[in-house]
Amino acid sequence: MGGMIRTQVGIVGAGPAGLLLSHMLHLQGIESVVVEARSRQYVEERVRAGLLEQGTADLMVETGVGARLKREGLVHHGIYLRFCGGTHHIDFNELAGGRTVIIYPQNKVVADLVDARLAAGGRIFYESEGVSVHDFSEGGRGAYPKIRFRVGGKAEEVVCDFIAGCDGFHGVCRPSIPEGALTVYDRIYPFGWLGILAEAPPSSDELIYAYHERGFALLSMRSPEISRLYVQCAPDEDIHEWPDERIWDELHKRLATTDGKWKLAEGRVLQKGVTGMRSFLVEPMQHGKLFLAGDAAHIVPPTGAKGLNLAAADVFVLSRALTEFYASGRKDLIDNYSKTCLRRVWKAQRFSWWMTSMLHLFDTDNAFDRRRQLAELDYVTSSRAASQTLAENYVGLPME
Ligand code: FAD
Ligand code: PHB
Repeated sequence: MGGMIRTQVGIVGAGPAGLLLSHMLHLQGIESVVVEARSRQYVEERVRAGLLEQGTADLMVETGVGARLKREGLVHHGIYLRFCGGTHHIDFNELAGGRTVIIYPQNKVVADLVDARLAAGGRIFYESEGVSVHDFSEGGRGAYPKIRFRVGGKAEEVVCDFIAGCDGFHGVCRPSIPEGALTVYDRIYPFGWLGILAEAPPSSDELIYAYHERGFALLSMRSPEISRLYVQCAPDEDIHEWPDERIWDELHKRLATTDGKWKLAEGRVLQKGVTGMRSFLVEPMQHGKLFLAGDAAHIVPPTGAKGLNLAAADVFVLSRALTEFYASGRKDLIDNYSKTCLRRVWKAQRFSWWMTSMLHLFDTDNAFDRRRQLAELDYVTSSRAASQTLAENYVGLPME
């Protein structure tokens, strides 16, 4: 026999958005329950983002989940753009008022948050099946929103004041909002990224974004021992056609410098996968007592490294709004949740689209377009105004 669980905020999804929200609400004395479709191990091992804006890292430190991040996070003060065989540094000290970004893998962010939630007695239901959300429309029947699911064969129901849809792009919350209530903005790119995790010390102190006639490449990292590398590929690329040697060969070619001095260190490939690229957003990010946060509401192409950071910013705004509601009964922050998030989300959408457009080869482009991209890269790396625009967006615009 399952049962009925009463809580204040029911959260669907134990990714970065759902866990950080649950943690921040707890610090304000607000109870929540998290319902997750996958296992704890699956979520904690999933290889995804690796770069935190300083604002995201600060949020973790300020809310008491930043101990390991402070120990193991790699602070970067800039990035490199590589094109025509030359390397150009974008210096955040000089251009972004000393703000930084921190290399710290998403699965560690998730593990740190899970540890904090469980230590504080937080409830997370893993391996939940048939998750559905009900009675969240304002004026709908039944006073309380509900999350229904089965776990270990038992039917469970979370009855709450509000539902946070933190269940990612393929979750159930967004599709449960009545047809016509949301406006969808969408763009699919004609390419994807083939990414590898390699047991090799990173061949650069900071990330290298490379524009090349064979396609985009990115050198990133996870730790002083582990590199994370990507090459632009077809959106439906068959990973079986990419033995390790072919990937390394492509990386060597796309990341090469004309002076031939720079060397890419190879190592055992620990993981590989293909990610499609899209820009996606729904407006508004709320409906009645259901609030969408993170990938459930928006997707960005990874070139700007914004996905995880946007998720953190959304839940920062949402936890503040819910805190105000429970403290004073004031509803204005809740009512304005979507509006507050979207101003910043749209700017991150623009930045991610722009970085993607500048650095990738599009099959519809001709020789003119490639010269235009090179002129843009030349401009971005030679004009202080242009490089500052890149730098201030990359380190992250202020959370409002
Ligand atoms: P998610 O991390 O997707 O979490 C949602 C959670 O909800 C998941 O745990 C999921 O299992 C769960 N869930 C889904 N459906 C249900 C359901 N019906 N019921 C209950 N639970 C459900 N961003 C970057 O910035 N840089 C990168 O390099 C980068 N690489 C990426 C690579 C891949 C393959 C993917 C998919 C994303 C990548 N991203 C990257 C984006 C970044 O990882 C996401 O923006 C980030 O995970 C968003 O966090 P979230 O909590 O909103 O969503
Ligand atoms: C990563 O380390 O996975 C990463 C870093 C920067 C990006 C995208 C991905 O822009």
